[in-house]
Amino acid sequence: MSETTLVLIKPGGVDRNLIGEITRRIEARNLKVVGLKLFRAPRETVETHYEEHRGKGFFEPVVAYLTSGPVVAMAVRGTNAVRAVRTMMGATNPVDANPGTIRGDFALTIDDNLTHSSADPEAAERELALWFSEGLPF
Ligand code: CMP
Repeated sequence: MSETTLVLIKPGGVDRNLIGEITRRIEARNLKVVGLKLFRAPRETVETHYEEHRGKGFFEPVVAYLTSGPVVAMAVRGTNAVRAVRTMMGATNPVDANPGTIRGDFALTIDDNLTHSSADPEAAERELALWFSEGLPF
């Protein structure tokens, strides 16, 4: 079933010039980029995005990290896109991520894990509405 999911390339990924590599892998998988922007995310957007984590010890650090520099927000569409993209990113903690995944190949620590992707279709719908409130071009 065709799904659309949200991918964020976090400031660390932008800083390390990984926009192209991450996007290349997504497109090579036969997933389509249907929304794409590079910008500094407002703190309010990031706080809403991570609302479920409010009160946890890593909430403030992750919000600070996501607002520390430019991010890429990408809408990605294709068959089983939500799960396919999650698997491509690898485990949240890069030290547990398999080689061949983005985190397994390019990251070492959980506080600089390079990307975010929606956990399930409900999260994808919510997150796409937040990061692409203007709508998608197609
Ligand atoms: P992400 O998939 O964006 O979702 C929550 C983010 O919080 C996670 O990736 C990490 O970047 C960050 N984080 C930092 N510490 C933790 C932790 N202990 N558990 C989960 N996420 C964490």
